Amino acid sequence: MMKSVFAEIGSKERLRALLAGLYHKMQADPMIGFFFMHQDLDKLIDAQCHFYLFIFGQITTFDGTPPIHAHKKLPPLLEGHFNRRLVLLQETLREWGLSHANQAIWVAFESSFRDAIVHHA
Ligand code: HEM
Repeated sequence: MMKSVFAEIGSKERLRALLAGLYHKMQADPMIGFFFMHQDLDKLIDAQCHFYLFIFGQITTFDGTPPIHAHKKLPPLLEGHFNRRLVLLQETLREWGLSHANQAIWVAFESSFRDAIVHHA
């Protein structure tokens, strides 16, 4: 299923450009932009691209930081922040013209990280 998402995007270069679009939206966003204030966005986009190449079955090993551990040093990532990223992701996938089926697959995949990423007081 995840491979069909990559097939529609078409190349590693286009995947990186799509993720760059998402991360620039996130950085400019009034609700979640502050998370990226002291971050090297290009490095984050590369790391995210590496993660998704693995998820989409294009590489066989992932040696980056797993999402479950990647957010520990950040300010508490709350439910609303997580939802906002999903909105920006959906917007990005729509802008890139992905099919509704592939948009739904990607959004469901990210949603599955909610419990692992959202801060519980
Ligand atoms: C509102 C939601 C999110 C925000 C604001 C956010 C923000 C960030 C930031 C600022 C970092 C860098 C952390 C550091 O270097 O200390 C990071 C790392 C990372 N995030 Fe997220 N994130 C969000 C959700 C997600 C989701 C849903 C996923 C995956 C499904 C994800 C995957 C990753 C990964 C894999 C890294 C590690 C990158 C590396 O290897 O350096 N993030 N995130």
